[in-house]
Amino acid sequence: MEKTYLMIKPDGVQRNVMGEIITRFEQKGFQLLAAKFTVLSKEQAEKHYEEHKEKPFFGELIDFITSGPVFAMVWEGDNIIEISRMMIGKTNPADALPGTIRGDFAAHMSLNIIHGSDSNESAAREIENIFNESELVSYEKTL
Ligand code: CMP
Repeated sequence: MEKTYLMIKPDGVQRNVMGEIITRFEQKGFQLLAAKFTVLSKEQAEKHYEEHKEKPFFGELIDFITSGPVFAMVWEGDNIIEISRMMIGKTNPADALPGTIRGDFAAHMSLNIIHGSDSNESAAREIENIFNESELVSYEKTL
């Protein structure tokens, strides 16, 4: 079973689409292990986006992601990294297909609603940046 880090960004929170996004992942059959409604520190934001630190938009990205609350989540499921990225859609909402989260809710590259890990290594690093091991809840569905 694979884990991923999904984060509804400040624009997603302010556009009131958190519930809709969570519903999509629940309905797909994935399991929520942890969630936190929080404002990222500059340090957490820089660590989260460390692979982009040489990019010209890095400063803007850090300012934006720390500008308001995010909804950080850990989800689990088979092939969840690949499948959740398909559900999220292309990074640039202009290229994201209708039916994907970005295709349905986003219009700008820097306001693209949600982040999803792109590999197991990124997921482990991104989860550890925000959550303690003890905050991940694992349970069997019995009902
Ligand atoms: P995300 O999936 O969170 O990963 C990196 C983010 O950088 C990406 O979504 C976009 O929000 C942002 N990004 C990527 N390219 C650009 C760009 N050219 N200008 C501004 N932001 C960008």
